Amino acid sequence: MIAKQNARTLLCALLLIGELSLADSLRSQGMRGTIRKQSFGKTAGGEQIDLYSLTNKKGMEVSITNFGATVVALRVPDRAGKAADVVLGFDTLEGYENGKAYFGATVGRYGNRIAGGQFSLDGKTYTLPKNDGNNTLHGGIVGFNKKVWKAREIASKDGESLELSYLSADGEEGFPGNLSAKVVFTLPAERNELKIDYTATTDKDTVLNLTNHSYFNLAGEGSGDILDHVLTLHAKQFTPVDKTLIPTGELRDVAGTPLDFTSATAIGKRINENYEQLVFGKGYDHNWVLARSGSGNGLTIAAEAYDPKSGRKLEVLTTEPGVQFYTGNFLDGTVKGIGNKAYVQRGAFCLETQHFPDSPNHPNFPSTVLKPNAVFHSETVFRFSAK
Ligand code: GLA
Repeated sequence: MIAKQNARTLLCALLLIGELSLADSLRSQGMRGTIRKQSFGKTAGGEQIDLYSLTNKKGMEVSITNFGATVVALRVPDRAGKAADVVLGFDTLEGYENGKAYFGATVGRYGNRIAGGQFSLDGKTYTLPKNDGNNTLHGGIVGFNKKVWKAREIASKDGESLELSYLSADGEEGFPGNLSAKVVFTLPAERNELKIDYTATTDKDTVLNLTNHSYFNLAGEGSGDILDHVLTLHAKQFTPVDKTLIPTGELRDVAGTPLDFTSATAIGKRINENYEQLVFGKGYDHNWVLARSGSGNGLTIAAEAYDPKSGRKLEVLTTEPGVQFYTGNFLDGTVKGIGNKAYVQRGAFCLETQHFPDSPNHPNFPSTVLKPNAVFHSETVFRFSAK
């Protein structure tokens, strides 16, 4: 008891003379999680890349690299308390440098597709590189997912945070304006959730759509398909697409279609139905229009996914107006992930919170325009539990 009091007094003294941060002090008292930095190797261009592992007091651990501001691993307990990594990933930096599927990445400057690689803003037409047939996907050929971000460990009041920032130059991948983007990942000490905060500013009018592209398998990455996972999407409408996955502009009711997840339904139950939208997507690869029950632009529940085998549940909350639910239709077993495991088709699902695809070409969609002097802010939470 006396020893404990002495330790506290010493801590307070060290704090007073500025030798310890408040976070260090709370850490040493076991009142928060930990953050550990290690080398993740060098890029082909010779840049040093790091891997940051954040832990909390509830058995969750998240690893993030500053290459692409990418979530590399997300370990959460199942109903028996046994942790597993529930996101697809690679063991090495090289995997991420060469990867084409955006595992865990921060996607930008414009997540999802822009039709014909073109949009107009303030009367000027901008031409972007096409990297998905005739369209631009996920920010172009070298999107934010392939950039080296600047990292800073910060002690937030809730737990451990990692701030990653990147300055995208005017004209990069065809987009106007110097865009300063910041993504803060927070793992609260007392809750099993990963909070992602995005902020951005620009010096010229531009368009912006930032998201995280984690591929979830709540039974553990590489453990087969996710067709038995049960999903709820808090959305009554979706944005139908043409065969190149560009929205037609229509907002269609999900009622009576295989895209109706307003009540909990197994992902695999209708995925192979002969419904044109599913044929175009080779499964689910669509944007759902989130129903925000009177909460304005605040954080609202977007989706809930449950794995009956492990008992793990994921809830996704966001301030964004849409979510792209994608069932890993382009995975085909040729990509080898962690431990050289083959990642099979539909071996994971993504819930990419976002503005709607191709918004710059659809004035009826919520605007993705960011102007100088405005600060873009958006928030998404991946919350885990097990029962
Ligand atoms: C998003 C797209 C998909 C696909 C994946 C990445 O989910 O909508 O069509 O491009 O990203 O493979």
